[in-house]
Amino acid sequence: MTIRFDDQVVIVTGSGNGLGKSHALEFARRGAHVVVNDLGGARDGSGASSEAAQAVVKEIESNGGEAIANGANVADYDQVEAMVGQAVDKWGRVDVLVNNAGILRDKTFAKMDLADFQMVMDVHVKGSVNCTKAVWERMRERQYGRIVMTTSASGLYGNFGQTNYGAAKMALVGFMNTLCLEGQKYGIRVNALAPIAATRMTEDLMPEQILGLLQPEAVTPAVIFMCSEEAPNRQIIAAGAGGFAKVTIQETPGIFLKPDSLTAENVAEGWDKIADTKGERELQYGGEQTEKFVTGAANMLGIKLE
Ligand code: NAI
Repeated sequence: MTIRFDDQVVIVTGSGNGLGKSHALEFARRGAHVVVNDLGGARDGSGASSEAAQAVVKEIESNGGEAIANGANVADYDQVEAMVGQAVDKWGRVDVLVNNAGILRDKTFAKMDLADFQMVMDVHVKGSVNCTKAVWERMRERQYGRIVMTTSASGLYGNFGQTNYGAAKMALVGFMNTLCLEGQKYGIRVNALAPIAATRMTEDLMPEQILGLLQPEAVTPAVIFMCSEEAPNRQIIAAGAGGFAKVTIQETPGIFLKPDSLTAENVAEGWDKIADTKGERELQYGGEQTEKFVTGAANMLGIKLE
């Protein structure tokens, strides 16, 4: 099976550099019409330039592909809507959105200005929300859409100096979880990528030998899979250096305390059992947790639920 995107229209945000550029080139190689969006600012989000996006478009065109450059700031809804309009005017549709644009403003939380927290939230969270909002209705109408969020190990597991970035990246997992529930019956599938790659974002964080293993092109196959017709739904795929893994959030079976023993001391005493991962599972929607607790409590108390 060869994955192709012939006649499909793909928007990759922040695709003037790094991972986004690698994704954009690969979509184009596989027949997609690509919107190469990039604000063209510095790593911390300051400044703007259309050069990077235009260079990627040139590369796509010289390989015989079709692409347009767009300089929208994903954090600005009007600009994002104009970008989607540009794609629809030219090619009539949007099939795939890869929310990839991102910035860093690292500092320990003690030293971080709230403005640096907000800026990172704006680009990653509001940026992904804006782009998704601008394509969502069209995808619902056409009963087809593939959307990728770019999360990070920093959000999933934490990273010193990245409270703003980690919070933003985990917010995208929450955004995805509910979008999947709402998009499923309209043929829209949403997944998240947790990449690791040598780009300007990470170049000063790791030694050169390690960076050599972490080419952005090693991550892109996961994105192509998540945007294909046979894409999974509501998955988090970690990818880097040729490694691919699925990330899940699990809940343990836990314990149940009777009404007359509902105390903090009994929670403390039961902690080993609460934290016991045997039988843990990935819940598929929030209400499943309510069902689990209510059913467990009813069983313990001998109450028959209607
Ligand atoms: P990069 O800095 O090479 O590329 C990010 C691109 O986004 C840049 O070209 C930048 O101009 C663009 N951009 C920034 N703000 C924008 C805005 N407001 N509107 C439109 N474009 C904007 O970084 P890299 O590493 O390629 O990052 C891509 C994504 O992957 C980001 O979301 C990043 O957080 C994420 N990521 C990267 C990891 C890595 O190891 N490189 C690890 C985990 C996540």
